[in-house]
Amino acid sequence: MDVKLLSGALGAEISGISLNNINKEIFNTVNELLLEHKVIFFRDQNITPEEQIRFAKFFGPIEEHAYVKGREGYPEITRLIKGAEEKNQWGEGWHSDVSYNENPTKAVILKSVKIPPVGGDTVFSNMELAWETLDKEIKDIVEDKRAEHFSLGAGFFIDEYKYFESNGNDAEEYSNHHPIVRTHPETGKKILFVNWTYTKKIEGLEESESNEILSKIFEHQSRLDLTCRYTWSENNVAIWDNRSVIHYAIADFFPGRGLGHERIMDRIAVLGDRPY
Ligand code: SIN
Repeated sequence: MDVKLLSGALGAEISGISLNNINKEIFNTVNELLLEHKVIFFRDQNITPEEQIRFAKFFGPIEEHAYVKGREGYPEITRLIKGAEEKNQWGEGWHSDVSYNENPTKAVILKSVKIPPVGGDTVFSNMELAWETLDKEIKDIVEDKRAEHFSLGAGFFIDEYKYFESNGNDAEEYSNHHPIVRTHPETGKKILFVNWTYTKKIEGLEESESNEILSKIFEHQSRLDLTCRYTWSENNVAIWDNRSVIHYAIADFFPGRGLGHERIMDRIAVLGDRPY
């Protein structure tokens, strides 16, 4: 096995492990690598949907998406299609997946199906490091506070994307309050748990103060020295620890520039526990 770091902040590309036929021992190695590097990548993994589902289940129960219909025959897999003619890409903007749920996603297993010849990288940022390096004055204000995370409704996940189909849950919106600093249930480390897309308000502060502090935190947590960036090829698998990273899928293969490329990913999410 070889481990190549993607940056000094987080992220590693692993070679010498095949994800086709995972057993408990291989899973334990993968999970240790995940806890250490927070996001890990595997190239040349020609796994079937069944193998991806089986692998994901080693991490825990699978979470189906709140609003988006799963793949035909595989409700556990959300196929993320960015069509060549489309302007928007799912996952553009810093976020941690479904942080608005009571039990936000634990981990995501994302497999690349079709990748544009240029662009379409994903960037991850280390929220353990973000907490460590956050301004002391802000830390003192937010350390014991909670923040509201809001789902933005079905339209946010469906309307802008031609190839996404609703699972029928069109009316419901979700909102949950989580600690701004959560404790990682496996490592015990402190993690900054807010994100630009879904975190709307700090509990107990006036709207204006809350906005001011959140915008400073959002700026801090997207600092480039806290990040790593991954350039995909087809049949790659990424696993991220959604409790301790935020991420951003870059849509820089614009039809408007005449590039007109398509990007397709198969995503499986694993259910997490309630942040504390
Ligand atoms: C996501 O934001 O969940 C998708 C990430 C990606 O497509 O790179």
